[in-house]
Amino acid sequence: MKNKTEVSKNLDIHAPIVEALKTAYNNPTYQFHIPGHTKGLGTLSDFRNLVGKKALRVDTTDEFDNLGTLTPATGPIKEAQELAAEAFGAKRTFFLLNGSTIGNLAIAMGLTKKGQKVIVNRNCHRSILTGLIISGADPLWVLPEKFSQWGLWGNIKAEDIEKLLDENDDVSMVWITNPTYEGVVSDVKAIADICKKYDVPLIVDEAHGCLWNFNSKLPETSLKLGADIVVHSLHKTGGSMSQSSMLHISKDSKINADDVERALMLLHTTSPSLMLLASLDAARANLQSTKGQKQLNRAISNAKYLRSEIDKMEHIHQLKSDFGYKTDVTKIFIKADGLSGKRLESILEIDFGIEVESASDEGILILSNIGNKRSDFEYLADCLHNIDTHNYKDIYYMENKRHMPMLVPIIKKSLRDAYFSEKEIIPKEQAVGRLSGEVVAECPPGISILLPGELITKEHLPYLTDYQTIEVLK
Ligand SMILES: Cc1ncc(COP(=O)(O)O)c(C=O)c1O
Repeated sequence: MKNKTEVSKNLDIHAPIVEALKTAYNNPTYQFHIPGHTKGLGTLSDFRNLVGKKALRVDTTDEFDNLGTLTPATGPIKEAQELAAEAFGAKRTFFLLNGSTIGNLAIAMGLTKKGQKVIVNRNCHRSILTGLIISGADPLWVLPEKFSQWGLWGNIKAEDIEKLLDENDDVSMVWITNPTYEGVVSDVKAIADICKKYDVPLIVDEAHGCLWNFNSKLPETSLKLGADIVVHSLHKTGGSMSQSSMLHISKDSKINADDVERALMLLHTTSPSLMLLASLDAARANLQSTKGQKQLNRAISNAKYLRSEIDKMEHIHQLKSDFGYKTDVTKIFIKADGLSGKRLESILEIDFGIEVESASDEGILILSNIGNKRSDFEYLADCLHNIDTHNYKDIYYMENKRHMPMLVPIIKKSLRDAYFSEKEIIPKEQAVGRLSGEVVAECPPGISILLPGELITKEHLPYLTDYQTIEVLK
């Protein structure tokens, strides 16, 4: 508890990019530079009225001294990254545009090489695979526990990582996803200890865990548990704008931060949006502020309230911590007897005007966010009670497709070699027995169904109902 950033809530909250943008807004100049909409005048008035004149006036890039640059970080952007590093307890923090996706690409590009082995959980996000295709490193799959009754991947077992490290003496790093999209938390400390024993860096895609640092009722962040690098999608739950994320390098890591920075410089846009960067700065400052702390406490108490209501229901069940794994209380995965997740999602949407985070085969994912009010949850609980006590089961619903990829891959060719092989596009029905030429991964959750070089079997077909054709190796 003492480690967590909540202890700093009484400090003065300083957000340098936000302040620099405010100064620029209050001191307008004659503009003869990009962006060409020139403070919003050169665009459709419908759009301007929708997003507001102010938003367009602060839409600028990093070309002006007083705002700083992203790559390399200078001025207020550098200062904001340093404040974020301090808040998250990192040696260095990089602000990311293009989401955690670019963080994962930069990690793969900067830290792995063609032919190196990287231990990766099979349910990783597709951006990690894209990174490995770029670098040419080979994934060594670790299969997490399967929570079959929930239709979900579960925790990664430390002993499975150790077994792979034991069997392969040329692993360049271990790269895990924690938590899962649905909030299942692995024992990162045990995994980090094993990585240290084998002297292999541990990278954690903690895209869905950026709030953990700010409240002791949430799981411990991987940075504190011994990971070398952690990636956070601040835009998912931390309150920043879509596409904005952070990458942190741990204080104790032997990884050279410059290798990651160089890759980020190659990958990042040369016109970074100051608004997105300011939103990262603002999200960090907000989470450290007294108000942000209240919002986070409220999100946790709203989640607990909803969970206690679900406990009273007869036909609706929730995923909770259990033997061997924990869950993040703010991510509430529920399922209803006799209803698929997709059907439950559509009932909530059509009958009650509720949109949830996602739906899969068995259930739906509800996020308790820092922006939600208690009344949102009271309404949701009422609607779920209503569904629980009415017979929605009889409503006809065609569920002939699967969403959550849970298959064990049959790998016939390395990822990069397969990706760059000659390919052809064939009707899906003829694809069984052929090797995939493409990454097939629907978002959410962005977990791969098929990767280049993997054998397509008839078990894949229910996941491919939206596909007419598929790219296969010649
Ligand atoms: C585990 C995980 N990692 C990375 C990403 C990519 O994040 P972003 O959308 O910020 O690019 C996602 C996106 O859903 C994800 O679920």
